[in-house]
Amino acid sequence: MKKYYLETFGCQMNVVDSEQIEDQLRQLGYRSVSEPAAADLILLNTCSIRARAERKVYGHLGRFKPLKERNPELILAVGGCVAQQEGARMLQKVPYLDMVFGTHNVHRLAEMVRQVESRRARPVAVEFLDPETRRRLFPRRVATDSITRFVTVIQGCDNFCSYCIVPYVRGREVSRPHGEILAEVVQLVEQGVREVTFIGQNVNSYGRKEAGEISFAELLRRVEDIAGLERVRFVTSHPKDLSDELIDCFGDLAKLCNHIHLPVQAGSDRILTAMRRGYGRDQYLERVARLRRACPDIRITSDIIVGFPGETAEDFAQTMDLLEQARFAEIYSFLYSARPETAAARLKDATPKADHQARFERLVARQEEISRDYREADLGRVVPVLVEGASRQGAGQLFGRTGWNRIVNFDGDPALIGRMVAVRLTAAQRNSHIGEVVPCSTACEHRLQPSAFSLQSGSL
Ligand code: 5AD
Ligand code: SF4
Repeated sequence: MKKYYLETFGCQMNVVDSEQIEDQLRQLGYRSVSEPAAADLILLNTCSIRARAERKVYGHLGRFKPLKERNPELILAVGGCVAQQEGARMLQKVPYLDMVFGTHNVHRLAEMVRQVESRRARPVAVEFLDPETRRRLFPRRVATDSITRFVTVIQGCDNFCSYCIVPYVRGREVSRPHGEILAEVVQLVEQGVREVTFIGQNVNSYGRKEAGEISFAELLRRVEDIAGLERVRFVTSHPKDLSDELIDCFGDLAKLCNHIHLPVQAGSDRILTAMRRGYGRDQYLERVARLRRACPDIRITSDIIVGFPGETAEDFAQTMDLLEQARFAEIYSFLYSARPETAAARLKDATPKADHQARFERLVARQEEISRDYREADLGRVVPVLVEGASRQGAGQLFGRTGWNRIVNFDGDPALIGRMVAVRLTAAQRNSHIGEVVPCSTACEHRLQPSAFSLQSGSL
């Protein structure tokens, strides 16, 4: 049997594309291996969000060169966002590369692999497809035994934030028909899935471009009625498109988890304008306040970019202040990286790199204190956890997640996998909590009302 080695970089969109890739490879008779040296086909699904991610791809390809020299039959393929951006140039830069396929051409992978296998062609597929075709070609359910799944509801982005490469490598926004999404969730539940995460670059603008399509909030309401599904989450939300209707869902829907990832990017109005974000600092904080009114126990996480061209010490002070006001549970912070084609790539920046680095470290350090406060305040709480599987921590341990997406490891019977249990949080680590399952005589109560349940502390 032929073997493939696949490495996936970047965001959830790539994770889902990789599932589609693996599905096609299995149908071609390949099975997965964890060592590139053992593979007949090596595939990298790449990310180009920052220059470092892109450089990594070329680094990896270099690593595979000796394998290719030893085995000229080896097929080396690159997909994803770097492939989309670079196209045929990649074949020139990497003479031993066999094929390049972009973000709109994942469905053609099998056909391309066959071309390489049969006549050693070097196919490149990076054309963008028209919206109607893309609506038909959304990533689809693949067989799974996992408890949680990503479901793509919208692809692409129309926002053109001045720093961001995504619209250039993923194309414009297209939403998937809601009937198809709901049918897929029902099938996933039949397969044993208990939690779905709706994904897209900007899920908040779901359905806006498609005449007669329902809103994202309405989609969430309809998912609420799917029997057997315990939880729903979504990423990512653009603050400018976060409607009151959607915020109200956090108060109204029992299955919607008490977490939202709401990237703010910067705390200064001047920088937000230069980034073309479409909201100001006060508007962002108003959305945060409204979220907390709708769901007092909601956890908000965010993305922040440090060192956008022209960012001054005063601008950065505003970002630090926003951290205090918003009290994010966690942030993902990034140093600005100029990306090809983007508007910000033309901007000059006078601030020395070392200053940006120092600011970055201050930001990370302050957020770490805030995150630690959350972790410690959670100790002793009893919260609903969806049990996802055996823990990596050790024999006999299980793991699951809280509503706010925190991993919890605890002792338990594997028969609990796929069920909601009550867990007392007993110790906090950097990336996870340790807990203990609490006998829960009112188990079904918290299953019906996870967010109400999670407000309680102490024993049930
Ligand atoms: N430089 C640094 N960070 C970036 N991001 C997107 N583009 C860039 C860039 N050019 C960050 C944003 C986004 C996250 C996925 O990556 O914070 O929300
Ligand atoms: Fe990376 Fe953006 Fe592509 Fe996701 S969509 S893989 S974050 S460049």
